[in-house]
Amino acid sequence: MKTVVDRPVPPAGAAADWTIPQQWGNYSAEQHATWDTLFARQAAMLPDRVDPAFMQGLEMLRLSKSGIPDFEELSRRLYQATKWTVVAVPGLVPDEVFFDHLANRRFVAGRFIRSPAQSDYLQEPDVFHDVFGHVPLLAHPVFADYMQAYGAGGLRSMQFGAIHKLARLYWYTVEFGLIRSGTAVRIFGAGIVSSYGESIYALDDPAPNRLAFDLKRVLRTKYRIDDYQRTYFVIDSFEDLLQQTLQRDFAPLYRELESMPDIEADAVLPSDRPARS
Ligand code: PHE
Ligand code: CO
Repeated sequence: MKTVVDRPVPPAGAAADWTIPQQWGNYSAEQHATWDTLFARQAAMLPDRVDPAFMQGLEMLRLSKSGIPDFEELSRRLYQATKWTVVAVPGLVPDEVFFDHLANRRFVAGRFIRSPAQSDYLQEPDVFHDVFGHVPLLAHPVFADYMQAYGAGGLRSMQFGAIHKLARLYWYTVEFGLIRSGTAVRIFGAGIVSSYGESIYALDDPAPNRLAFDLKRVLRTKYRIDDYQRTYFVIDSFEDLLQQTLQRDFAPLYRELESMPDIEADAVLPSDRPARS
């Protein structure tokens, strides 16, 4: 008997690639105001904490303009900078769909915005996390190339049954990455940048581990989705991150990792290098 692998179908109203129209005109005044409130709080706190490329991206993309950004206008500016665009999707999309968009320089973003009561905690990524958190760095040429390479690498990881390993790289860089900045450490991951509490915690709290980025170590490390991270990895630069991942053939790495145990989210190993500061 032949088994047919189920291909998830997009929900009604979504295109075959799972995109939907943003319908920018449908946002209410209250929803635009929620964006403005979240924006003002983060924009005031971030300049000394975030990688300067993030602030440059905000500026270049005119994200400080009042209200939820219109993806068409945002995409025009972003395309001019790095040939990326932003497309709306109904929520989380299948891995293959997600990777394929990234590999083609399309960033998929939720179009809904959290309610004011959810300003500090949210399970599903909304338009504030996706656009404020992720899009500014997509205007940086090297980071933009890293994201595309990640998408292509994601598609490739499926052949090795290694999606969940590669997902850890996304998590510990794109979502929760730290970066060296002279003698200091700054944030760049979207999950931190879009969170008031974690923007402070990730840099200032003595509790979490801050380790020098180590690709193999990252691929083995579990992560928390329900609380602030127990471990952050500090990259030297976006150039270094791109070189370490793009140049390397992950296939032997995936094979090697099959016989190695996962590392707990809060573990520190004798071989770990703390991030210099
Ligand atoms: N070089 C990786 C591979 O061989 C692809 C990749 C690039 C993965 C960038 C992550 C980030 O699969
Ligand atoms: Co995100």
